[in-house]
Amino acid sequence: MTERFPEALDQFDLRRLPADFYADPYPYYHALRTHAPVKALPDGSRLLTRYADAIAVYKDPTTFSSNKKAEFKPKYGDSLLFEHHTTSLVFNDPPLHTRVRRLILGALTPKAIEAMEPALERLVDDLLDEMARRGQVDLIEDFASAIPIEIIGNLLGVPVHERAPLRGWSLAILGALEPALTPAGHAQGNAALKEFLDYLEGLVAQRRAQPGDPERDVLTRLIQGERDGERLTHHELLHQCVFLLNAGHETTTNLIGNALHALAQWPAEKARLIAQPELIRSTVEECLRFESSNQLGNRITTRETDIGGVRLPPGTPITLCIGAANRDPAQFPEPDRFDIGRNPNRHLAFGSGPHQCAGMHLARLEGKVAIGRFLTRFPRYRLTGEPLRGGRARFRGFLHIACDVHGH
Ligand code: HEM
Repeated sequence: MTERFPEALDQFDLRRLPADFYADPYPYYHALRTHAPVKALPDGSRLLTRYADAIAVYKDPTTFSSNKKAEFKPKYGDSLLFEHHTTSLVFNDPPLHTRVRRLILGALTPKAIEAMEPALERLVDDLLDEMARRGQVDLIEDFASAIPIEIIGNLLGVPVHERAPLRGWSLAILGALEPALTPAGHAQGNAALKEFLDYLEGLVAQRRAQPGDPERDVLTRLIQGERDGERLTHHELLHQCVFLLNAGHETTTNLIGNALHALAQWPAEKARLIAQPELIRSTVEECLRFESSNQLGNRITTRETDIGGVRLPPGTPITLCIGAANRDPAQFPEPDRFDIGRNPNRHLAFGSGPHQCAGMHLARLEGKVAIGRFLTRFPRYRLTGEPLRGGRARFRGFLHIACDVHGH
């Protein structure tokens, strides 16, 4: 594939990606970074692949806005998807962004997250027990996807027996963010939103009647607002709940799935982690860098500006390629090597600047507990068969990874 570069780059379009891109986007990212680091795409947007350029954009929210109304109107029309994606905090600038972020961060403090660890360990151990019994498992269905659903379910206080549809809703709503959106994807996204919002109406009504502990329960916190500050409108409240599930679900599933896949592909690193379990923290960071579960971020210019030596007019949509920035040799020596002891490792998997992931400490904890305990329990695990990729450019991960946990 690489020999086609740089000619293939002329055709490169996020909306019409070549078939081999999904299995391995990194040769494309390297070629783009080398030959066209501020790549003009056919729709008039720019794709940034250098680490330094991505950081510069993240750190300057005044010039590079997160407000997606102009961009999403033609994509979603007048639909629930438009309403949702333009209300969620990640796609807004101040003042809505500041207000909502403060509320969410207040419920995701290091103390609150630490308090979640024992329940998380029990959940993971139960899943490990079940997998030990079965031997042949699907690492995504039976393990990686089960963890974040329960964690976010706990955060929002969704009763355990009502959690079954959450994963499907989340996949459909986030699927609609793909650069190439099909009519079927659009319809599924809207249908999922409708069902999810209807469900939340009931949950919020119950919580208003019987509030939880605002130190732990994000939903109660969002309902009550800051003690002396503003509250969210009902409409904003429902959409932030949808967003929280989406933000914390597929990304974390993919962190765990991608990590277990990478460790299986790099047996020397797997052996190193088994021998030195204290490397689990830097392993999680390296997994986040090496196969970032969120590969793309977006901004739009609010004024004329220069980025990477290229002059851009106001209103230029920008795609930040996190996956490429995290493999930039100017920042990471030997970027294509999976090195669980990598230090420093200032990756951009959680973004940077004022929108930096509000759930990153929680995601790290989930990664540490899930990956660490899995490996301690099943050091000889072996992948059986070809794993099935999700086939998405933005959210990188697997739908199925068949595995024999005992290594038979
Ligand atoms: C491995 C797991 C995760 C990854 C890779 C990830 C990645 C990201 C990234 C890249 C952003 C920044 C988007 C931007 O600036 O354009 C973000 C924002 C956000 N994430 Fe995460 N995330 C993860 C897990 C979570 C979890 C578990 C939660 C919550 C429970 C969460 C909640 C949020 C929120 C609320 C935002 C919006 C922050 C803002 O706009 O101020 N994320 N995430």
